[in-house]
Amino acid sequence: MLAPRNFKLVSALAWTLLPTSLAALPAGGTTNDSIIHDYVIIGSGAGGGTLAASLARKGHSVFLIEAGGDHGTAPSQQMPALWPTSGEDPEMSWNFYIRYFANETQGRRDSKFSYRLEDGSIYYGLDPPSNATPLGTLYPRGATLGGSSQTNAMNFIKPRSADWDYLAQLTGDESWGASRQWRNTSSAWKEFTTSQKVHRSMVSTSSTNTSDSWLRVLTCSKVNQNNVTYITGRPGTREVMSNLAHEIEGVEVDTEGLGHLLQRDVNGENTYTPGVYQLVVSTSGMRRRPGARDFLVDTANGSAAYQLTISTHSLATQILFDEKDVGEPTAVGVEYLVGEGLYGADKRYNPDQTGTLRRAFASKEVIVAGGAFNTPQILKLSGIGPREELESLGIPVVVDLPAVGKYLQDHTEGIVLVNSSVPWENDPNARCTMTLDETDPCYTEWLESGTGPYGEAAAPLAVSESEQADQFWFGFAGVELRGFYPGYSHPTPQPSVFTWDIVKLHQAGDGDHAKGTDPRDVPEIVFDWLQGDIGERDLDPFVEGAEVAYRAWDAAPAPYTPLTRFQPAEGVDLRQNLKDEAFGHHCSSTCRMGPKGNTDYCVDSELRVNGVKNLRIVDASIFPHTPGAFPVTSVYMLGIRAADIISESAKKQCDLVNF
Ligand SMILES: Cc1cc2nc3c(=O)[nH]c(=O)nc-3n(C[C@H](O)[C@H](O)[C@H](O)COP(=O)(O)OP(=O)(O)OC[C@H]3O[C@@H](n4cnc5c(N)ncnc54)[C@H](O)[C@@H]3O)c2cc1C
Ligand SMILES: *[C@@H]1O[C@H](CO)[C@@H](O)[C@H](O)[C@H]1NC(C)=O
Ligand SMILES: *[C@@H]1O[C@H](CO)[C@@H](O)[C@H](O)[C@H]1NC(C)=O
Ligand SMILES: *[C@@H]1O[C@H](CO)[C@@H](O)[C@H](O)[C@H]1NC(C)=O
Ligand SMILES: *[C@@H]1O[C@H](CO)[C@@H](O)[C@H](O)[C@H]1NC(C)=O
Ligand SMILES: *[C@@H]1O[C@H](CO)[C@@H](O)[C@H](O)[C@H]1NC(C)=O
Ligand SMILES: *[C@@H]1O[C@H](CO)[C@@H](O)[C@H](O)[C@H]1NC(C)=O
Ligand SMILES: *[C@@H]1O[C@H](CO)[C@@H](O)[C@H](O)[C@H]1NC(C)=O
Repeated sequence: MLAPRNFKLVSALAWTLLPTSLAALPAGGTTNDSIIHDYVIIGSGAGGGTLAASLARKGHSVFLIEAGGDHGTAPSQQMPALWPTSGEDPEMSWNFYIRYFANETQGRRDSKFSYRLEDGSIYYGLDPPSNATPLGTLYPRGATLGGSSQTNAMNFIKPRSADWDYLAQLTGDESWGASRQWRNTSSAWKEFTTSQKVHRSMVSTSSTNTSDSWLRVLTCSKVNQNNVTYITGRPGTREVMSNLAHEIEGVEVDTEGLGHLLQRDVNGENTYTPGVYQLVVSTSGMRRRPGARDFLVDTANGSAAYQLTISTHSLATQILFDEKDVGEPTAVGVEYLVGEGLYGADKRYNPDQTGTLRRAFASKEVIVAGGAFNTPQILKLSGIGPREELESLGIPVVVDLPAVGKYLQDHTEGIVLVNSSVPWENDPNARCTMTLDETDPCYTEWLESGTGPYGEAAAPLAVSESEQADQFWFGFAGVELRGFYPGYSHPTPQPSVFTWDIVKLHQAGDGDHAKGTDPRDVPEIVFDWLQGDIGERDLDPFVEGAEVAYRAWDAAPAPYTPLTRFQPAEGVDLRQNLKDEAFGHHCSSTCRMGPKGNTDYCVDSELRVNGVKNLRIVDASIFPHTPGAFPVTSVYMLGIRAADIISESAKKQCDLVNF
């Protein structure tokens, strides 16, 4: 492969030249082949960003390569209510078009299925022109400093103990077990265990930005519930929610009682206990997003001289190995292209813009954290993957590792939509103009005090079902949500519509498929879910969830009822429609953790890639199943713990050298 000649000599020279303070740098930074860091990390998202900042804070020098730019101060990244906008912004996001079904006839039954037309524009729907080229269904990812943690809906739910215990059981490494880590006040995850009440006063007044407060903001759930009057102050919505409380908890509640139920802490003792709650949103006290980006910027630009260099607009193209090694290959660096919009999933992509090739070297380790779609692509481009697939593409095999890109998992979401006979009244958004200027009362309120509807995020209502049933539901009155399709971030207001989104946890999938050797090409991503007996079993809770929602709606009094069902429409088969329209956005597991050396798994319990030295993966790819009801909490926790694991193993190596 393309390892540098005389790497060790270059390394020794550059080591002495290492600057003591490296601030965050503009595109590409000033780095070149002669600067070496302890760690080179690809991807600044929930996993890689958290890891990079944490490692730098432990005293290591870190070079972070991120394909996107920094847009952390843009309203669309800071404001909870604008989260959909960041996910479609060409400067902040990548739009993948993926296949939920291998069977294209089935895939095209999705009303969100998209096609490229002859003029280059995109059509989505059930009736494409005959010469349209099928693409698949839109699946957005964040491509900006902080990754998808800057573009996600900020729903913040604790993972289940079972997610961690499964890792411990699978690998035999007890240290992943929930009781050892996540209920342990001296572990890497201690912030996630501390009482919510302690934090409440600390974050309630200002948006602070140090590492400690970043974690505090992330883990302070109670204070970040949405304003309960947005549910209890809306008579129609209140009726539906009270009916749901009756359906799920068997209780009859008045307005006050409903408010009490909704304000229980879903991240406390009740997580995954059947009931009605509000979805918890991770915001600062001023209701700004605390994504991985803030942690990075505070670390790189804060007063302490941490050695974190951030190279934005930098697309990693392959991992570099030490040429002289015999036996196990050793990762020594990363090759990357500097430029904007260089990746095929970027809406600004122009094949003629090829970027500038650069290299960054690591004296200790390379860590890949490009997210569940990009991490396997980077590994395959570097010769780590299923032998047959690599050989068919002419990529020299460095390590035959069949698990790379396989076992893709997600949560499956199903939607049912109904229309009330009258608008759902008291919509808090009604007075907002969405102009985001001084004429917009919601904007000025949010700017000044953080309150108001713009400080609320996606889902004002949440209902979790039992762990056995493996599902989580949430809904909105006055908002039509159908998943992701071109333009999803600009829905027209639908004051009479009520959406229920049924999230089915744990979902089987297929994987990604490299298309070629060009790192700027997007791989073919095929879920092929909801197939066969397992698919039928996965569809059962969808149908069950939809039927509970229908009962709660239909039991509402006039003038809301009679309600009109419009997705699926009256007479359309519910089960089939839920399957056709299903979507996801919590992809994971394409480089899953498992027993060391077992090539049906990608990394061992210390996150090391099987068969390669000095190479680890720290992102959603390593979870054997998508963790929790919303995965970002688990990915942050992974980043924090990975910094401990990696730092510990560096210490061990130093001890050996000193000895
Ligand atoms: C629209 C949307 C809404 C979501 N809502 C929620 C929610 O409400 N709650 C929740 O828990 N989860 C939510 N998620 C999921 C959650 O954000 C992700 O699971 C999580 O961010 C995954 O972390 P990651 O580190 O694996 O990847 P990401 O956070 O996606 O980070 C990957 C980073 O790597 C960069 N990268 C990729 N390839 C390269 C390359 N070759 N070179 C350089 N850089 C590269 C990307 O630009 C990106 O910045 C949502 C996701 C989306 C997209
Ligand atoms: C960080 O510091 C650099 C160098 O001073 C500056 O160019 C950059 O804008 C800063 N970034 C942020 C997000 O403050
Ligand atoms: C690389 O760094 C060296 C040493 O600092 C410097 O002399 C050289 O000009 C740099 N090259 C580039 C392309 O930035
Ligand atoms: C493909 O899907 C269509 C529509 O669901 C179905 O009728 C057909 O039988 C499927 N084909 C195969 C080979 O499974
Ligand atoms: C708690 O975490 C510490 C630090 O990782 C560890 O040494 C200890 O064994 C853990 N405690 C328990 C009860 O597992
Ligand atoms: C961090 O917070 C301080 C005040 O607490 C503020 O002055 C500063 O601009 C913030 N930095 C960033 C990068 O947001
Ligand atoms: C929902 O009802 C309103 C009137 O209450 C109507 O204007 C709108 O078209 C309906 N939407 C759908 C999708 O049926
Ligand atoms: C919640 O919303 C109500 C209006 O519905 C408002 O009076 C109240 O101040 C809000 N509370 C907070 C904490 O924003």
